[in-house]
Amino acid sequence: MAELKYISGFGNECVSEDPRCPGSLPEGQNNPQVCPYNLYAEQLSGSAFTCPRSTNKRSWLYRILPSVSHKPFESIDQGHITHNWDEVDPDPNQLRWKPFEIPKASQKRVDFVSGLHTLCGAGDIRSNNGLAIHIFLCNISMWDRCFYNSDGDFLIVPQKGKLLIYTEFGKMLVQPNEICVIQRGMRFSIDVFEETRGYILEVYGIHFELPDLGPIGANGLANPRDFLIPVAWYEDRQVPGGYTVINKYQGKLFAAKQDVSPFNVVAWHGNYTPYKYNLENFTVINSVAFDHADPSIFTVLTAKSLRPGVAIADFVIFPPRWGVADKTFRPPYYHRNCMSEFMGLIRGHYEAKQGGFLPGGGSLHSTMTPHGPDADCFEKASKAKLAPERIADGTMAFMFESSLSLAVTKWGLEASMCLDKNYYKCWEPLKSHFTPNSRNPTESN
Ligand SMILES: [Fe+2]
Repeated sequence: MAELKYISGFGNECVSEDPRCPGSLPEGQNNPQVCPYNLYAEQLSGSAFTCPRSTNKRSWLYRILPSVSHKPFESIDQGHITHNWDEVDPDPNQLRWKPFEIPKASQKRVDFVSGLHTLCGAGDIRSNNGLAIHIFLCNISMWDRCFYNSDGDFLIVPQKGKLLIYTEFGKMLVQPNEICVIQRGMRFSIDVFEETRGYILEVYGIHFELPDLGPIGANGLANPRDFLIPVAWYEDRQVPGGYTVINKYQGKLFAAKQDVSPFNVVAWHGNYTPYKYNLENFTVINSVAFDHADPSIFTVLTAKSLRPGVAIADFVIFPPRWGVADKTFRPPYYHRNCMSEFMGLIRGHYEAKQGGFLPGGGSLHSTMTPHGPDADCFEKASKAKLAPERIADGTMAFMFESSLSLAVTKWGLEASMCLDKNYYKCWEPLKSHFTPNSRNPTESN
């Protein structure tokens, strides 16, 4: 496969033409009486028409046929997608999942859409307030099937296997240690090349932004230029048997047939696009004296609520970096948080857990549920010599952190068969080191 091209820059106002049709973007206007190459003009709005400029998102697509050329949508099997947050009773325990099992293609052929499994979530789709965390487990490409989500944006974190994503804006190749965001309404189809697994953070009705940097200044964390946007690519492909467009609408799946590939956009312009980002480009900021900065310094993208400083969801990573803090217990501190913390592992070993938290698995520490390093980690880190050291080399753990209190689905707790019932035991060996008659910590053991 020839190397794909991209446009660089987060949220930029972009223009792109498939090089096979030079001049396909109308000049000086969006909606000429007849478009170049006799294409149809179609606007995709990602924000209310009247949003302030800073949050106004839309793109103009110039396509062979408009998206409306399809048969009626009909309800289809929901598989393991749900937005019913009352399937099972709430459970405040620390939860951890073993790696979610990918079906073998020889036993069950599953594509990206049929392989979506909702793990947890909260909020309400109809009022555009909430989120869902899904696990995707698939082994075949989406043949003549595309998907679009009327409910929100998908932040996709591939963990095993690369994704070749066809979108109306062009093609993206997204490999483990990269992420992509496909925003509300954008049609896409995913080719996979092996048994493939990953995580999805879906936010309802809002979009991801780069976090403000405050005193950090103008540079750092995820830099805007490292976000890559596909370039226009079209296929004028008739599909005699019928192409299937799958829509997630109010949490339910619907399918409609049409006679052509939906990837028939010859040119587009605008600031509402899919994009991808390589996590290796994240500029890590951290404490270089003592103590910890809060993990908000690792925020890649944030989906804000209306309350200042409070996110519906943050996407946070724990990348390879130096640990240099003196006189400091360096692993994450024990804590209880008013936010919900779902963690996943793309590769390697997470520093706060010696075992049990594996690539392709996950953990959920719910609002105010205590958690922190396991006993082994505590003992080792309390005695470690504090030389500068590399942390998390070869590792990429991430967190979806939310101000909402997340409900776990029946699939998550039962049907996935991956819940680790022994998770709590990693803290059981923690013992008291209290020395009431000596303030000097070196005398403890
Ligand atoms: Fe935490």
